[in-house]
Amino acid sequence: MPDDASAVIGRAIERHQHVPGGLLPLLHDIQDALGHVPPEAIASIASALNLSRAEVHGVVSFYHHFRQVPPGRHVVQVCRAEACQSMGADTLLASLRQALGVDLHQTTADGAVTLEPVYCLGNCALAPSLMVDGRLRGRVNADAAGVLASQLREVA
Ligand code: FES
Repeated sequence: MPDDASAVIGRAIERHQHVPGGLLPLLHDIQDALGHVPPEAIASIASALNLSRAEVHGVVSFYHHFRQVPPGRHVVQVCRAEACQSMGADTLLASLRQALGVDLHQTTADGAVTLEPVYCLGNCALAPSLMVDGRLRGRVNADAAGVLASQLREVA
């Protein structure tokens, strides 16, 4: 693990280790800074919070939000919650799968795009919604999703 990653993890541990319920915010801090929660961080987190490695790993793997490997250069998060489902999220997702050649939780072979599910982006009135690199988009139809996928693969 690079030194700067170790430093990020160390700071996150310091900030949260004595706070009740600190595990989730600690993991969020690490992922916000590094893009994922490195498996090498599990032992230090467990030790600092007086938890077992299995407990920390269980939380990381339970929540879809946490990644255990670095994402691609772009992250597309497709809403899979009820309002978006009812407005065609499955069709939109099928278009993205086809255009990118990956399934959910996967990254294209060129490292350009990671495709992830998310369960409500708070944009239900403009369903179906997705998030691209943290930017929300609403009323995305299948055609627009296909175009978006092609654009993201072209932009380094
Ligand atoms: S259900 Fe998709 S944004 Fe709320």
